[in-house]
Amino acid sequence: MTEKNIIQKPRGTYDILPEEQKYWQFILKKFTACCENFNFSKIDTPLFEYSNLFSKAMGPTSDVVSKEMFYLSRKDEQGSEFALRPEGTAAVVRSFIENGMQNLPTPVKLYYFGPMFRYSRPQAGRFRQFYQIGFEIFGEDDPNCDVLTIIISANIFKDLKISKNLILEINSLGCQNCQKKFKKNLVSYLNQYKEYLCPDCLVRLPVNPLRILDCKEQRCGSLVKSAPQIIDNLCPDCKSHFQKVLEGLDEANLAYDLNPLLVRGLDYYNRTVFEFRDINDVSRQSSLGGGGRYDDLVETYGGPKTAAIGFAAGVERIIDKLKEYQISIPEVKKLDVFVIQIGEKAKKKVITLVKNLVDAGFSTNCVLGKDSLKAQLKTADKFKAAISLILGQREALDNTVILRNMIDGSQRTVKMINLEKILKKELKKIKKEGNE
Ligand code: HAM
Repeated sequence: MTEKNIIQKPRGTYDILPEEQKYWQFILKKFTACCENFNFSKIDTPLFEYSNLFSKAMGPTSDVVSKEMFYLSRKDEQGSEFALRPEGTAAVVRSFIENGMQNLPTPVKLYYFGPMFRYSRPQAGRFRQFYQIGFEIFGEDDPNCDVLTIIISANIFKDLKISKNLILEINSLGCQNCQKKFKKNLVSYLNQYKEYLCPDCLVRLPVNPLRILDCKEQRCGSLVKSAPQIIDNLCPDCKSHFQKVLEGLDEANLAYDLNPLLVRGLDYYNRTVFEFRDINDVSRQSSLGGGGRYDDLVETYGGPKTAAIGFAAGVERIIDKLKEYQISIPEVKKLDVFVIQIGEKAKKKVITLVKNLVDAGFSTNCVLGKDSLKAQLKTADKFKAAISLILGQREALDNTVILRNMIDGSQRTVKMINLEKILKKELKKIKKEGNE
């Protein structure tokens, strides 16, 4: 083991620095508003769970479980293993069952935001700790619920102003019976070309042949182009369900591309699966978001049979798009008032003044280690304060303060007793002029 420099973040992670926070707040605000308006409720689940929760949901042969799980070396008292969550759905389903949410009026609609962990090879848009926004809907198997799910997902991107160039890809994976039939057909086709498959797909062939359909290796990609398609293997119920989803999308005027190779990387899906991708992402490796139905998962975990569908998107990839399209993002912090003190008497009064201003609802700052007016004004400017209050010896005795509008440079003396009212008025004026 090599001794790593401690001043070094782990590969595939990053700090969200103060200047980046505005993107996070913007996304969270828009996403929350969208979910709340569609009457979803927020849910938070732990960052780690029993690892078998994930392997049971996503399948032991999925990349996420077989290669990318972050296992914890600390086990529970009975020796059961923990893992950091690689996604949100499995934990939300666990919580749905554990908290008896099947007894709530359906549909049960939940949304979440938070960090996820996958030990994948870091590259552009792919991290080992990344953030997802996501939502799940329980208790509706109607195809129109699939349409609604896709509409809400598309709405999130629209509200974030990044839907330009996004394409929606859709497929149906059918039910377990359709998949059984399809897997048989697919395996017998692929068996003829075994020697051309990549080493990973050779392993997948007997255990998880569906995953071969979205293998990113060129040699597998060319093989699967002529492979049997799942849509041709759907049972009448699944076929009609998918037909209705497509009709619903047409009705809603939502353009889509049918992608028979779209299987998504997680084994819990059935019937409708979908992904949003940038039209220019030729590598097809960095979808902005994706989701689908998982009507069997609640039952797999021992809960009652409950239809379910959901969606999640990657926050880092959304931020890349916000930057690429130069979407204007409101600054998180606006400094209303910067308090400047000159002389010992003023310095004594400054802390109380700052506290009173904060209590009155003004964002306020000051610097106590600098004494000159010039240096403090310069700092106020750097912090982009709208107003500076200058408290000198005389003002400290007179119970007054000099109010300086930092935008136009005008100054006047005001009585402390009237300060709150005057500040409100001045800030309103500055805001109005700023918007003109
Ligand atoms: P997923 O496709 O694995 O689906 O992830 C959803 C989104 O998370 C991806 O489209 C991508 O934007 C982002 N993402 C995934 N892995 C990484 C990574 N290593 N680095 C950066 N971003 C990443 C799910 O997780 C499902 N739980 C979605 C779902 C909800 N299905 C039903 N309900």
